[in-house]
Amino acid sequence: MVNLEYLLQEIKIKSMLLKNRVVMPPMGTGLGRKDGTVSEATLAYFKRRVESGAGLYITEISSVHPRGSVSPSALRIYDDSYIDGLSQLANITHQAGSKIAIQLHHAGRESFYQLNRGQAMAPSAIPSYVFGGSPQAMSREEIQEVVQAFGSAARRAVEAGFDAVELHAAHGYLLQQFLSIHSNQREDEYGGSMENRARFILECIQEVRAQVGPDFPISLRISAEEVIKNGYSIEEMQGIVPEFVKAGVDIIHASFGTHGSPGGIIQAPIEYEQGFNVHLARKIKEKVDIPVIGVGRFSDPVIMNEAIKRGDADLIAVGRQHLADPDFLKNAQAGHPERTFYCLACNQGCIERLIYEAKPVRCAINPETGQELYYPSQPAAKKRQVWIIGGGPAGLTAAAEAARLGHQVTLLEKEEQLGGQVLIAAKAPYKDAYADWIQKLKDKALRYGAIIRTGMEVNERVILEGRPEVVILATGARQLIPELEGMGLPSVVDAWSILRGERAVGENAVVVGAGLTGMETADYMIQQGVKSLVLVDKLPKSPINPLTAHGNMLNYRFKKAGGKFMFNTQLSEIKENSVVLLQDGQSHLLSPVDQVVIAVGAQAENTLEPFLLRSGIEYYVVGDAAGPRRIIEAVEEGARAAWNISS
Ligand SMILES: Cc1cc2nc3c(=O)[nH]c(=O)nc-3n(C[C@H](O)[C@H](O)[C@H](O)COP(=O)(O)O)c2cc1C
Repeated sequence: MVNLEYLLQEIKIKSMLLKNRVVMPPMGTGLGRKDGTVSEATLAYFKRRVESGAGLYITEISSVHPRGSVSPSALRIYDDSYIDGLSQLANITHQAGSKIAIQLHHAGRESFYQLNRGQAMAPSAIPSYVFGGSPQAMSREEIQEVVQAFGSAARRAVEAGFDAVELHAAHGYLLQQFLSIHSNQREDEYGGSMENRARFILECIQEVRAQVGPDFPISLRISAEEVIKNGYSIEEMQGIVPEFVKAGVDIIHASFGTHGSPGGIIQAPIEYEQGFNVHLARKIKEKVDIPVIGVGRFSDPVIMNEAIKRGDADLIAVGRQHLADPDFLKNAQAGHPERTFYCLACNQGCIERLIYEAKPVRCAINPETGQELYYPSQPAAKKRQVWIIGGGPAGLTAAAEAARLGHQVTLLEKEEQLGGQVLIAAKAPYKDAYADWIQKLKDKALRYGAIIRTGMEVNERVILEGRPEVVILATGARQLIPELEGMGLPSVVDAWSILRGERAVGENAVVVGAGLTGMETADYMIQQGVKSLVLVDKLPKSPINPLTAHGNMLNYRFKKAGGKFMFNTQLSEIKENSVVLLQDGQSHLLSPVDQVVIAVGAQAENTLEPFLLRSGIEYYVVGDAAGPRRIIEAVEEGARAAWNISS
């Protein structure tokens, strides 16, 4: 049994007694109704989260002022009419035996929605890092209006039954905008020195304290370091944080970074270790004698326990792990940590889906997250005999889910190993956790009674003989290999063979295709010591957004290694020691080139589908077999097929 002695200790903060030191930090969901009220989906999502057994849950951002909402579906607390809806979140949490704080928020200039409506306000009229578009500089009267709004919102939080409030003074939103010289160039008492820039936050804290009374806990979420060029440092924050405590704060929640921080560091990618930033919490603790929450990539309760034991933080916030698998704490306590699905920090279903796709929260590896209303928790009424053909992420998810629902599941994979393309992707730098995830999926399917056969190719005859009632076709995709002059030369190799280690990495290489496979293959080749690397794509830019967390890291390592992109460029011919490229209609000879790696995409492998259609067998085509896409689609479709099997 793992020892979680420190993590599981109670802690009393003013009137709030927490049963342990685990905190779910605020995470926007996009699940609220369009009028900013709590929806059925919000409640179902939250109900599942509070099953984790954490001591404290903090709601997603809730706007204190009509001009402060990031989007229409962000929760609101700027009017008494919102109290009833919000109180349901408090009730759910209390029924689960935990405590709940609400995060009070004003987006300031960091709201596409407010900028679009001409309603964004900020300390100064300086455009948002992310969205551009100028906000209006706040007048003194408007500053006071927002200070009052924070106070009224806190009073409503008390009425709604919350145990604490958290003021969001981190991540580049309004309160932090006052603190940062990048957004605050005021010449009055709210701008200039750090003391002046902190004034607005101090006034908000004082007003909140006045409204909630002396014993009600107030948390302040800060970015302990701004993590941006010429941004404020941890030392500057150390200087000002005792003032926040004097103004009435009881907890410091030590996050980091701002909207413009490179590569979305607030939701750090897989390259960062668990707890990589908890030293910032420790630095805050040196200056204050109230509890400090540390945050950043925590997934494993043992590592959280160690951080508390070392005295780095008093509490640990566990964000994305609550999306990937809210049972992480219970599994550890029950002596089954191996059952926990660890967050891959891919951000595909969570923060990047919210920001770049404007869609509600999901999780790439947990199909239940954000779909709690549709997730069947009870076994199916009628057990079916289900065959799943293909053991990649879609097939394995389908197997785990169908078996969980009580169906008789047989998964057949033609390769000796399970995992499909994920196993290949897991060879890229920093991605070994993806192979662990495949192992967990397999274990889960087996635990629920699925039969898994590898090295088993399925054809029409096998299906006719086996007579499954339902088939889930998850046969993945095959690589696209273009027909070009010189493709038969020994220097030409496909990306998968490189990643699998079947072919040695060359010295002077060209990778054709700057999608995820091309970028990650390039990353692998850099790690293997390739001397020069050119990444060619016919598109005007890479489909991998360099603002995303992993995309940023891939771009960073590529450029650091001296890699060169050539966009709007097509490979037209491969020669012995060179390639001919066509860029904007002009022909270039690139030499020397001793390796040409093909990563131009994949094509669905679904040759059994016409037969299944004719056969009359109930069938579903999922994941790349239905069209090559990402893990999130594979997992969702695999799960949905299992959920939809007719009973
Ligand atoms: C989908 C999503 C939404 C988030 N929304 C908020 C938010 O509303 N307020 C906030 O302070 N932080 C927000 N964050 C940041 C998290 O609270 C947390 O600091 C971050 O995810 C790092 O913790 P983790 O590595 O444990 O996930 C969000 C993160 C995610 C993934």
